Amino acid sequence: MTTKRFSGMVAVITGAHQGIGRGVAERLGSEGAHVVCLDLKDCNDTVAAIKAAGGTAERATMDVTDLTQWKSEVPRIEDKHGKIDVLGNIAGVVATTADTAIDLEQAQWDRMIAHDLTSVWYGMKTVLPVMIRGGFGRVLNIASLAALRGLPNLFSYSAAKAGVTGMTRQAAAEYAGTGVTVNAIAPGTINTPILQDITPDMLDQFAAAHAIKRLGMPRDIGAMAAYLCSPEADFITGMTYPVDGGWSIV
Ligand SMILES: NC(=O)c1ccc[n+]([C@@H]2O[C@H](COP(=O)([O-])OP(=O)(O)OC[C@H]3O[C@@H](n4cnc5c(N)ncnc54)[C@H](O)[C@@H]3O)[C@@H](O)[C@H]2O)c1
Repeated sequence: MTTKRFSGMVAVITGAHQGIGRGVAERLGSEGAHVVCLDLKDCNDTVAAIKAAGGTAERATMDVTDLTQWKSEVPRIEDKHGKIDVLGNIAGVVATTADTAIDLEQAQWDRMIAHDLTSVWYGMKTVLPVMIRGGFGRVLNIASLAALRGLPNLFSYSAAKAGVTGMTRQAAAEYAGTGVTVNAIAPGTINTPILQDITPDMLDQFAAAHAIKRLGMPRDIGAMAAYLCSPEADFITGMTYPVDGGWSIV
C-alpha cells in the first residue's frame, strides 16, 4: 500500500493534461499532495481523477513558454497556498518535421528550444525563490534518453534535453544547502499521446529496443518522480536518472 509521503505538500505539475505529466500528477495526488495542474489544454480529467482517488487538485491554463504567465501564476499559487513544495517541469513537444542537423528549419529549432528547454528555466526561475523562502523544495525536470545517447532524427530535441540535464546539475549545485533539490528523469519510450504519429510497427520496434520488452507507461515515470520528490530523497541532487526499461544498457 502506498504511503502518503506528500501529505500537506503543494505540487505544481506542467503538462498535466495528459501523458507523463498526468501520470506524475496522479501519483503525487494519490500520495497526499495538493496538485496544481498546469497545461495549455484543460486538466479537468486529471483533476477529476485525482479527486476520485481521494486527493485534492486544481487546474490553470498556462503556456509554459511565456515567462509573463509564470510571473503571474507562481505568485497566485504562493498567495493561495503559502508555498510550493514540488515543481514538475514536464510539458514538452517533439519536432513535427525533420529533426536532423541538415534538414531542421529555424522555426522548428526555436519552437523546440522554447518548449523543451527555456520553459524549464522559466519554471525554475520563478518557483525556486518560493522554495528557498520555504526552506524546502523538489524540482523534477524531464529530460530524455535522447539527452544521453545518439538517436536518429532527434537533433533539436536532444539539444534541448541535454540542456535540461545541464540546467538541472547547475541549479542543484547553486542552491544546494537551501533544502531544495533539483533532479531530472530521462525516460525511454513512454506510451503517451506524444507518440500519436508513430505507426504500430515502429512502436513495436521501440518496445523491442528496450531490454524489458515493452514501452514505458506514465505510471513508470510517476513512481520514480514520487521518490525523487519525496522528503527522503534529500541526499540526491543534480542527477539525471534514466527510466528506460533498460534501453541504455543494451
Ligand atoms: N513519451 C515519451 O516517450 C517521452 C520520452 C522522453 C521524454 N519525454 C518528455 O516527457 C514530457 C511529456 O511528454 P509526453 O509523452 O507526456 O507528451 P504529451 O504530448 O502526451 O503531453 C505533453 C503535454 O504538454 C502540454 N504542453 C505542450 N506545450 C505546452 C505549453 N507551451 N504550455 C503548457 N503545456 C504544454 C501538452 O498540452 C500536453 O498535455 C515532454 O517533455 C517529453 O519531451 C517523453
